[in-house]
Amino acid sequence: MTELQTRAKQHLMLHFSDMTLAPEDIPVLVRGDGCHIYDDLGNRYIDGLSGLYCTNLGHSHGEEIGAAAAAQMATLPFTTNWTTAHPPSIDLAEKLAALAPPGLERTFFTSGGSEAVESAYKLARQYHQANGEPERRKVIARRDAYHGTSLGALSFTGIPVCRTAFEPPAIATRHVSSTNAYRHPQGGEEAAFTRALLDEIEQVIEFERPETIAMMIAEPVQNAGGSLVPPAGYWEGLREICDRNGILLVSDEVICAFGRIGEWFGAQRLGSEPDMITFAKGLTGAHFSMGGLLMHERVAEPFLTGKADYLHGITFGGHPVGASIALKAIEIMEREEVLANVRANEPRALELLEGLKDIPIVGDVRGLGHFFAIECVKDQATREPLTDEEAGWLLKDVLSDRLFENGMICRLDDRAEPFVQIAPPLVAGIDLFEEIAEILRDGLTHAAERLEAGVPA
Ligand SMILES: Cc1ncc(COP(=O)(O)O)c(C=O)c1O
Repeated sequence: MTELQTRAKQHLMLHFSDMTLAPEDIPVLVRGDGCHIYDDLGNRYIDGLSGLYCTNLGHSHGEEIGAAAAAQMATLPFTTNWTTAHPPSIDLAEKLAALAPPGLERTFFTSGGSEAVESAYKLARQYHQANGEPERRKVIARRDAYHGTSLGALSFTGIPVCRTAFEPPAIATRHVSSTNAYRHPQGGEEAAFTRALLDEIEQVIEFERPETIAMMIAEPVQNAGGSLVPPAGYWEGLREICDRNGILLVSDEVICAFGRIGEWFGAQRLGSEPDMITFAKGLTGAHFSMGGLLMHERVAEPFLTGKADYLHGITFGGHPVGASIALKAIEIMEREEVLANVRANEPRALELLEGLKDIPIVGDVRGLGHFFAIECVKDQATREPLTDEEAGWLLKDVLSDRLFENGMICRLDDRAEPFVQIAPPLVAGIDLFEEIAEILRDGLTHAAERLEAGVPA
């Protein structure tokens, strides 16, 4: 065990981690290069999840981005966006308005994604109050979706294991079906599937009474549950239902914005028209912790005309160093044509992953951009799911170790249907996907053989 290991185990409380894992080693990652990261023993890994869907530029732009940060630190290391403004946040907000879908002209900056989600909710509440509808307090979100862990955002998160210990939720939220076509009874026929999903939402709204609902929140491609792409017509349907019922529609793009699914914003890829977009992660390519909330001018209106003041603020929201970093990261994305790279890679990447379907535990393969998942099953023909016990063992004890030994970090998740998720940096070439597919072939084949032999007692 290295000395870093010892100190990590002594002093760190890891996020969402089983801290009884010792004496197994905690990977201590010390250095990055392109789409790879290195541990303290010199082992190299593919950054197959872009950190947590955020190292979108990989690990080789630190010096250039660092120079932008250093220049801002030398000029004005900090001032707030509380009643004052400064050039980096003004420039960044203007740039985001230029990149965002039409009408989304204004940004409230935060330090991360959960804060962005809570900012959307508070804005929605005050928007409705200003328009004489103070009863609109409830939220519609989707099962299995992750919207953050702070108590407000956690109310929208639809993953029982994240929520249960903290119930009752701070904000009354009704969860509706995710867009997992592979598991939905109507999933085989796209139009019927869309209709069934939208009908379910309508029924929930009717039951709860439309005049009590403030907003609906959904990701363009839902992460948790495994890169769930919506069926055609889904977002158009959400827009229509929300308009008809006076509900604000929030596109949570903490993952999907800044190129993850091939456009600046996920809404552009899907052609959707949300009232608000939450973002974080990829904004700075993970060179700084920063997020925000883009709002449509019609949602900002009560706050611009004196009907309300937004009663919300975060010390480091709009941090000048963070904003300078974000501007530089966006400049690099434009210069290196990162969005075009993602769009060019997508079809072949999907084909490579689809090519794994000859392995008995590979069920569904899905995703967009650089954001893919493979849902694992017990029986391909019947789609019989793995039991919780089988899924936990197979993913955590068998597959995870094997992929890691073979030099890849990605996500293995069994909180809903078990899946393996691949989301490499947006600067990756197709050769990296080829390497990933080979490592997955080895790992999934090994896992299928172990499953065939039976779960150890
Ligand atoms: C869709 C979505 N919303 C919100 C969050 C919360 O973001 P953060 O962890 O920065 O608070 C996440 C984090 O993964 C996310 O994926």
